[in-house]
Amino acid sequence: MGIDMDMHPNAPVLLDDGRPAGPRVRFDGVAVDLGGASVLRDIDLDLAERRIGVLGLNGSGKSTLGRLVNGLVAPTRGRVTVDGLDTVADGRAVRRKVGFVFQAPENQIVLPIVGEDVALGLKTLGASRKDAAAGARRALERFGLGDLVDRSSHSLSGGQRQLVALAAVLVMEPALVVFDEPTTQLDLRNRNAVARAIDAMDAAALVITHDLDLVAGYDRCLVLEAGRVAFDGAPAEAVRFYRERAA
Ligand SMILES: Nc1ncnc2c1ncn2[C@@H]1O[C@H](COP(=O)(O)OP(=O)(O)OP(=O)(O)O)[C@@H](O)[C@H]1O
Ligand SMILES: [Mg+2]
Repeated sequence: MGIDMDMHPNAPVLLDDGRPAGPRVRFDGVAVDLGGASVLRDIDLDLAERRIGVLGLNGSGKSTLGRLVNGLVAPTRGRVTVDGLDTVADGRAVRRKVGFVFQAPENQIVLPIVGEDVALGLKTLGASRKDAAAGARRALERFGLGDLVDRSSHSLSGGQRQLVALAAVLVMEPALVVFDEPTTQLDLRNRNAVARAIDAMDAAALVITHDLDLVAGYDRCLVLEAGRVAFDGAPAEAVRFYRERAA
């Protein structure tokens, strides 16, 4: 897609057609040690593509990489910035730009009624009760989930839960959404619904997945191996690389 990164290190990146790309996420000499173990090391990345995949074996550091982007994990060494904002020092501002959809959405849905849960983010951003409720209803309707607005969050199926979690993040209009295994545990229909929802987002997406079909057509794909970026390029080659290494 020919993104030109040879400019000011935090300048917005434009696509060939002049549209702004995703927010600029930079990892500079990043390492993460957790519980005395080295989980990530030597990470230097300059990301601005709208659809980025992250592949890698269990334990290779994918979730940790995703969490660094919105400051859920702090680097032990080095620095992560989003549009020049430090994910640790400017954590609050970064989390306004970067939404996160967790691997287990039951950990993400906190309020007992679906509509209230989706409205929560809007209230946090200062919306009135009425505006937040209306915004939540619109966000759910966008995913064909309008009839769930008054349902108990606990009564949702796994697929509905994943889509509600996505609606709750998108309602805050993030510039980038990090997804940690968004299609794991979903049947084919819900997997396809989530894949389409990601494709249709205005926001940029960084998608951590074991679902290799999901990243086809993405702009860039990373493969992590034992805490390092072992491949960085087009999705087809990334999948080939990953298959060979995993064999
Ligand atoms: N808080 C922690 N304390 C100690 N070790 C941790 C901690 N969090 C993660 N790790 C270790 O760091 C490594 C990478 O974990 P991470 O969750 O980033 O991997 P992953 O690629 O997302 O794996 P999976 O595909 O299984 O989700 C693993 O070995 C994990 O056990
Ligand atoms: Mg993980």
